[in-house]
Amino acid sequence: MNQIPQRKITVVGAGFVGSTCAQLAASKELAREVVLIDILEGRPQGIALDLNQMAAVEGTGARVIGTNDPADTWGSDVFIVTAGKPRTPGMSRSDLLETNGRVITAVADYIRAGSPDAVVIVVTNPLDIMVTLMRAKLGFPAKRVIGMAGVLDSARFCWFIAEETGTSVQDVDAMVLGAHGDSMVPMPQYCTVNGVSVLDLVPAAKVDAMADRTRGGGGEIVKLLKTGSAWYAPAAASVAMAASILNDQRRMLPCACLLNGEFGFEGLYMGVPAILGANGVERIVELPLSAESRAQMQKTAGAILSDVDALRDMGLL
Ligand code: 2OP
Repeated sequence: MNQIPQRKITVVGAGFVGSTCAQLAASKELAREVVLIDILEGRPQGIALDLNQMAAVEGTGARVIGTNDPADTWGSDVFIVTAGKPRTPGMSRSDLLETNGRVITAVADYIRAGSPDAVVIVVTNPLDIMVTLMRAKLGFPAKRVIGMAGVLDSARFCWFIAEETGTSVQDVDAMVLGAHGDSMVPMPQYCTVNGVSVLDLVPAAKVDAMADRTRGGGGEIVKLLKTGSAWYAPAAASVAMAASILNDQRRMLPCACLLNGEFGFEGLYMGVPAILGANGVERIVELPLSAESRAQMQKTAGAILSDVDALRDMGLL
């Protein structure tokens, strides 16, 4: 039997994204204990039972603990916070500000109290604002409070490129920076199929169309599902970030980080390429930007700041 590292990962929120995160973390044996917490009684416990019984078939040994009690999360090395309401058709991510802001505030209280050394990955929407709020409430060093979005948005771009070029998605690398919203900044100049620039494989107009589809990628799924938003790719993206941190893989992944002068921004959470390792964000990687990408980064920063102001007006920040 494999040796499983003696560590603890907590997933907050037992909805579709959270339960899929718990499933992936357990099946990859990222930690000895995977805690799944939710305020709904019975749901995290039921999912934990199901996942532990799945482990019997799959032959894996991580243990999933379903709970409503924050004390069970104490001493966690990593949190993945998915709690909150998802969008329904017609809603923008910003429409969730107040409801999910209250959820993040409550979760921050018990993370701070019981797991002061944890690295916290925020998934709850509107992502850039919720990670800003989480950092403010926790008071942890910024390198330990990170938002998940760029990995997901890049994965969507990857899939569209794979479909368009008729290649395997495993050979495609793509990069999307900026906010996790309509103003996100796909970076075609950094997208490749096994090292070959997408700009050499696909006409420019098609690349632009794929970038637009990526901007609306979450909404496209919300519209199809009618009752909620995506969960498999968001969960896989969150668990990839957690794995890079827990295994000190130092993968370079686009994620929402607090900028301290990088890309010309100060004191703002935004999606940028970052190296994730044992300490959380080990380094933010600055890239040369074209004039067009720079203008898009300014626009996306403006969108984030206006939502941060709205949260402040609600008295939540
Ligand atoms: C999405 O883009 C959940 O915001 C997430 O699907």
